[in-house]
Amino acid sequence: KTRLRRRFEEINEWAANYYNNLLLKSPEGEPGRHYFKQRGIDFETMNKFRLGYAPNRWDGLLEYMKTRGVQPHEVAEAGLALERGKPEKEGRQFYDRFRNRVLFSILDRRNQPIAFGGRVLDDSAPKYLNSPETTFFNKGHHLYGMHRAHQGIREEGYALLVEGYMDVIALQNAGYPNAVASLGTALTREQANLLKKYTRRVVLLYDSDDAGINAALRGGEILRDAGIQAEIITLKGAKDPDEFLKKHRREELDEFLKQAATFIEFKYRILTHNQPPRNILEKVELVHKLAPDVIKVVSPVEREGYERFLSLELGLTLEAIQREIKSLGQKNH
Ligand code: UTP
Ligand code: MN
Ligand code: MN
Ligand code: MN
Ligand code: MN
Repeated sequence: KTRLRRRFEEINEWAANYYNNLLLKSPEGEPGRHYFKQRGIDFETMNKFRLGYAPNRWDGLLEYMKTRGVQPHEVAEAGLALERGKPEKEGRQFYDRFRNRVLFSILDRRNQPIAFGGRVLDDSAPKYLNSPETTFFNKGHHLYGMHRAHQGIREEGYALLVEGYMDVIALQNAGYPNAVASLGTALTREQANLLKKYTRRVVLLYDSDDAGINAALRGGEILRDAGIQAEIITLKGAKDPDEFLKKHRREELDEFLKQAATFIEFKYRILTHNQPPRNILEKVELVHKLAPDVIKVVSPVEREGYERFLSLELGLTLEAIQREIKSLGQKNH
């Protein structure tokens, strides 16, 4: 480990403590406490997830870091401060990146803070602000919640992949220690490979809006290409798992989990908008759209399962479906 890497970790560690202490103890942290309380987050959770609050000041963190012998430019290099436009006569000027936001510490699996996600306390934009990419933090290589979930995924035998920080916290608190989220980006190959170290089965539980559905389709492909069995659930009656658990009991979420669709089944439902195809041409089009996914299925048993599924759904013989898919496969090779 290089000296710079150690410094990066040290600064992020001190910052996590500074923000967490403000949230838990300081009069200045009251807005953060009030925000989390209103969202049902208790003190135990604030500690477990090392949640924090960034004060409504331009130099709260910078001043604190000075007391620990950290120079402003080092805070900036760790992603936690920004430099003002032009360096002037009096020298370079910096200001805190996170101000008046509640903070989610992004911990690696050794519990080391490496970045932060900060949420506004109202509905102004941008809702979330994250640490920037640096030499030592690449958001596409990490998953939020992994510090607990690497154990949880092994225990449960699968990972529950969600969109948001609050979803991970709500789910882990409700007894799903296997919940993780990507850090505000589409799922990456690296994140899929990270999950693959712990399991071959991932259940996607994204938001129930169009963005969530599209992200689930894309995420399903990424997981499939990484050799992971992807299943997808869409919740009804809530926009995301956090909201769902505020309104419903955990047992009701379990019911949804039992109905998880495989990637291909899910894609079929989305392509048909849950309506049966209206005519023969629509049936042919559906087979053509799903053929590339069916062809990629490695297991002959699973593949025939999808062919039978299409045969039943479309009211066509298994032989016709299989011949069509086979000919499409040959064309593309
Ligand atoms: P959502 O918009 O679904 O937010 O974004 P959320 O997690 O449900 O937020 P709450 O419940 O209103 O607090 C899902 C995730 O996408 C990232 C964040 O990681 C967020 O948790 N995101 C969202 C950003 O990075 N920036 C944004 O401006 C919005
Ligand atoms: Mn969303
Ligand atoms: Mn939410
Ligand atoms: Mn959401
Ligand atoms: Mn209910």
